[in-house]
Amino acid sequence: MNVAVIGIGRIGLPLAAAIASKGHRVFGCDIDAERVAAVNRGENPIPDEAGLSELLPALAASHALVATTDTATAVAQCDTVLFAVAVDVDGEGRADLEMLFGACDAVAKGLRPGTLCIFDTTLPVGTTRAQLAPRLESGGLVLGRDLFVAFSPERLLMGRVIEDLTKYPKVVGGIDRESGARAAAFYREVFGGEVYELANAETAELSKLSEGAYRDLNIALANELARVADAYGVDIAEVIRAANSQPYSHIHTPGTGVGGHCIPVYPHFLLQGRGPSSLSALGREVNDAMPAYAAARVDALLGGLAGKRVLILGLTFRPNVAVTPHTNAVDLLREFTARGAVVRGHDALLSEDGVRDLGFEPAPAPLAGYDVAVLHSYHRAYAALDWPAIAPLVLDARNALDRAALEAAGVRYVGIGRPATPD
Ligand SMILES: NC(=O)c1ccc[n+]([C@@H]2O[C@H](COP(=O)([O-])OP(=O)(O)OC[C@H]3O[C@@H](n4cnc5c(N)ncnc54)[C@H](O)[C@@H]3O)[C@@H](O)[C@H]2O)c1
Repeated sequence: MNVAVIGIGRIGLPLAAAIASKGHRVFGCDIDAERVAAVNRGENPIPDEAGLSELLPALAASHALVATTDTATAVAQCDTVLFAVAVDVDGEGRADLEMLFGACDAVAKGLRPGTLCIFDTTLPVGTTRAQLAPRLESGGLVLGRDLFVAFSPERLLMGRVIEDLTKYPKVVGGIDRESGARAAAFYREVFGGEVYELANAETAELSKLSEGAYRDLNIALANELARVADAYGVDIAEVIRAANSQPYSHIHTPGTGVGGHCIPVYPHFLLQGRGPSSLSALGREVNDAMPAYAAARVDALLGGLAGKRVLILGLTFRPNVAVTPHTNAVDLLREFTARGAVVRGHDALLSEDGVRDLGFEPAPAPLAGYDVAVLHSYHRAYAALDWPAIAPLVLDARNALDRAALEAAGVRYVGIGRPATPD
């Protein structure tokens, strides 16, 4: 099969490589000429994506995977087109589809009769049918007769995309029965795993938003319970461990909010269109309030933050991936700065320019002499930090650290919903 993957970013590139590694010819289409050139040289632009560095050089050398900026020409040679172009929210919290529209317009120029187009990017319910499929219908091609369009969400974790591709069932829904059946057949042939063929594209779109909303709301519940735990001076880690020993309880871990361009974004898609979800709005509100709550907690512990030296460690949205959209580290910077603290940032995976791009003044080496250290993303590279040298107080913003080890080293510990070590 010849397959075009539109958008060879964090998701599209490992997806393209995984399909090419199964013996198919894949065109990776992107508007980023530098990325396209790097991929064609066999260089991996996403080194923290497991398995990709092993696959790419051979796939590029054999032309099993060819990257290109000429989307229309690539699409004209393909039976199937997968869209992995990102969708974010605009200033009003509405889905910003501009990049995806651009991709559709470029693809439409190359489509031939019989092509199957699958949208992988998470979308508000109804978007595939109402806004995307019609844009593909150019040059006399008619949906349902010449063109087949389906939605099939990526259910992957950045950093382990290739492994996850076959780990969970693939969910598909077409804009008509034939499109859904063709999309299901495509995934069965390429990955061989279980495929859930849903009634239509809208069902598949809502299933992906449901996964995201569940996780955002679950974390919101954990965060609210953490605040209750603080009010009673009990440790939320103990509470959750006990509660989750019952098989129907799956409470997530509290922390200073939710980052990345998935979980904090998708609930907004449920706030627009039909049947707006007020619970999704509330979850966003609870999670977005956590950075301010954490800063206030430290403020109270130290009797004020004015002039205090604060180090925020791990600025990416989660550990071990160099990805920063919607990272809560930026919210922590804002909240600590607003209380008069002098904040520095450090990230083991980002360059100093990358740290500055997030608005932080980079911490000079060695990491030492702060009043408080805030651990945001606990990268593997931070496993052997000299905490006592860094600061006498550590805020564990993700409840990820070994509290007992820190306390044994003489460091005062406070977590989210976890009592501070007595002074
Ligand atoms: N990142 C995740 O963990 C994750 C997980 C599950 C699902 N997803 C879904 O995958 C989507 C893509 O996420 P990502 O992290 O890969 O984004 P990304 O920003 O890393 O990649 C998107 C790529 O699309 C390219 N692009 C933009 N406009 C284009 C056009 N007109 N034609 C061709 N290429 C174009 C960009 O240059 C970029 O390389 C997300 O919106 C989300 O719905 C992401």
